[in-house]
Amino acid sequence: MNDQHATEPALDGLLDFARVAALHSYSPYSGFKVGAALKLTNGEIVMGTNVENVSYGLTICAERAALFRAVSEFGPEIRIEAVAVANLNNAASPPCGACRQVLAEFILRDAPVIFPAADGIRTMPFADFFPLAFEMELK
Ligand code: THU
Repeated sequence: MNDQHATEPALDGLLDFARVAALHSYSPYSGFKVGAALKLTNGEIVMGTNVENVSYGLTICAERAALFRAVSEFGPEIRIEAVAVANLNNAASPPCGACRQVLAEFILRDAPVIFPAADGIRTMPFADFFPLAFEMELK
């Protein structure tokens, strides 16, 4: 699957979960309401939203909130087979760099990443979306 501007029907459903998650956003400082939905290889769908903080830097993005919830609920063996991100602001919101690195820990290389881009909804395999992730191989 390469960069696409239309989602498959199954992935449309995941995008709907991301939109629902965004309804719970706590974002009084930015007003930017983001939701993420992860489809796990165990069949579960886990949602997350951004939770802001008055000290700003402690804010957590929707994608990481969903991932930490997934590990907390289902354990460290989870693998992510698809990710969808949505926002309620009708804006582009590809997952930020920090979230890409955190997703890299648990996501399948060819998992589709679905997100709102400036030119509409895009779907890309994770490996294309985040090439050259940091990996630690000690010698
Ligand atoms: N945000 C996310 O939830 N995901 C991203 O990938 C980028 C940004 C949130 C963090 C903050 O609450 C708001 O969007 C504005 O940056």
